[in-house]
Amino acid sequence: MHNAAFAALGLDWCYLAFEVDPQNLRAAIQGAQAMNFAGLNLTVPHKLLALDMVDVLDESARTWGAVNTIRFEGQGIDGVWLPLASFDQGAHGRPTRFRSQGFNTDAEGISRSLIEDLGVSLAGTRVFLLGAGGAGRAIALKLASERVAELFLLNRTASKAEEIAAEIRLRFPGVPVTVGYPSGPVDLLINATSLGLKSSDELPLDVARFPLRQARACYDAIYRPAATALLQAAQAAGCQTANGLGMLLHQGAKAFEIWTGRPAPVAVMRRALEQNIYGH
Ligand code: ATR
Repeated sequence: MHNAAFAALGLDWCYLAFEVDPQNLRAAIQGAQAMNFAGLNLTVPHKLLALDMVDVLDESARTWGAVNTIRFEGQGIDGVWLPLASFDQGAHGRPTRFRSQGFNTDAEGISRSLIEDLGVSLAGTRVFLLGAGGAGRAIALKLASERVAELFLLNRTASKAEEIAAEIRLRFPGVPVTVGYPSGPVDLLINATSLGLKSSDELPLDVARFPLRQARACYDAIYRPAATALLQAAQAAGCQTANGLGMLLHQGAKAFEIWTGRPAPVAVMRRALEQNIYGH
C-alpha cells in the first residue's frame, strides 16, 4: 500500500520489508538512521522493545505504550526538528543533528476504520469486545479513551480481561466496564481474538448467550479470510459488518502522513491492499 501511495504522489521513495531478530533491533534502527531512511514500521514483538530505542516518543507512543512507526528527523539551521524527508528540497539547509521519534498509529487506525467502514463513532456507544491479547488491549483502551457509553470484555482467560478492565477503570474512570456477556443489545460487537483465522475455528463467543441479532454492527479485526464465520453469521443475523482491513489501511495511512507530511491517498492504498491480499 505504501509503494502504491508513493507512486500515486510521484514520490521517488520505496517501502521494503526486513526480518530483524529482536536482539538486533537497536542496531537495525540505528542502521536505518545512518542510511538516511525516512522512517520505519515495526511489528510484533518489536513494538514494545522499540520504546527504549528511539530518542523521543510522540504522545501517541506514550499513551499506547508501543511504537509501530518511527520517523527519522534532522535539526535545521533554525534549530527546529523536521522529518529527514523535508530536507530533500534544500530549503532548511543540511541537518546539523539527527534523532529518531517513535509514534503509534494503531489506535487511530482502529477508530478511523470503525467510522469509515461502519459509520460508528465511538462516543456514547455500547461495545462488546472479544479478546484480551495485544490487539484486544489496544482496542479496549482506544474505545475507553473515546468515551464509549459502556464496554463489555470477554476473553477465554478471564484474568486478562480483568487486567484490562482494571487499567481502564484507572485511566478512564468515567467508562463503565464489565467482564462478561452484556445483558442486552449493543451497538457494536468486535472480535479481537485470533479465532476465525482458520476455517475450522469455532465462533469466538457463545451465540446462545449472546444472539448476534443483539448487535447492530459487527467488526472482525481479522482480514484474512475476508469474511470469518463470525462475520458471515453476523451478516445473516442482520448486522452491519466490516473486517479488519481498514485497521491495517488506516494505521498505514497515518504512518504515511507522519513520514511524508502529505495527506495519504487512502483510496489508492486500499485498492493496493485489496489486490495484494484478496487478489482482486
Ligand atoms: P494478538 O496480538 O493478535 O491480539 P494474542 O496477544 O496472542 O494475539 O491474543 C490472542 C487472543 O485470541 C487472546 O484473546 C486469546 O485468548 P487467551 O487470552 O485466553 O489466550 C484469544 N484466543 C486464541 N485462541 C483462542 C481459542 N482457541 N479460544 C478462545 N480464545 C482464543
